[in-house]
Amino acid sequence: MPDREPLPLHATPPAVTRPAAPTGRTSSADSFHALVGGEPTFRRLVGRFYELVATDDLLRPMYPEEDLGPAEDRLRTFLEQYWGGPTTYSDQRGHPRLRMRHAPYPVSPGARDRWLQHMRTALDELHLAPLPHATLWDYLERAAHAMVNTFDEGAR
Ligand code: HEM
Repeated sequence: MPDREPLPLHATPPAVTRPAAPTGRTSSADSFHALVGGEPTFRRLVGRFYELVATDDLLRPMYPEEDLGPAEDRLRTFLEQYWGGPTTYSDQRGHPRLRMRHAPYPVSPGARDRWLQHMRTALDELHLAPLPHATLWDYLERAAHAMVNTFDEGAR
């Protein structure tokens, strides 16, 4: 069966960005990415998130590399691209196909909730204005629900 993505996880949201150049985009001034503070904001979000993952007994063992730095870069560049920032993620990794890329890892509802718990902490610590905060949270919550690929909580 072809990889199905129930959410347009690979697309930039049309309401807040210009039409995206396929690759090589640096950033656009009127993007959501710029509105929330650009790269430094995403670095803080994802940096804090991975600090919490590093101490998590359920999530940490799922990450194959000893160094979480490269995984942090992949998630950050993906999120920056999604919200209208530079296209670094796709320039380096190609099409996101996130459901497919998560297939090797057992993303159970428990793992999803843990992921969301850390993301929520990291997001809250950014102290964004209510609307961008809600916009980001809504997306992250839906995306995390879409990533669940097993209901077996024991699968590892
Ligand atoms: C729901 C719980 C989730 C779990 C347990 C999880 C776990 C993982 C793991 C173990 C990896 C492999 C580490 C790596 O090589 O980067 C990974 C990769 C990745 N995840 Fe997740 N993830 C979750 C949700 C999400 C969500 C919601 C997003 C996007 C909004 C996301 C974006 C990514 C990206 C961009 C990569 C790197 C893909 C690549 O280019 O190889 N993940 N995730």
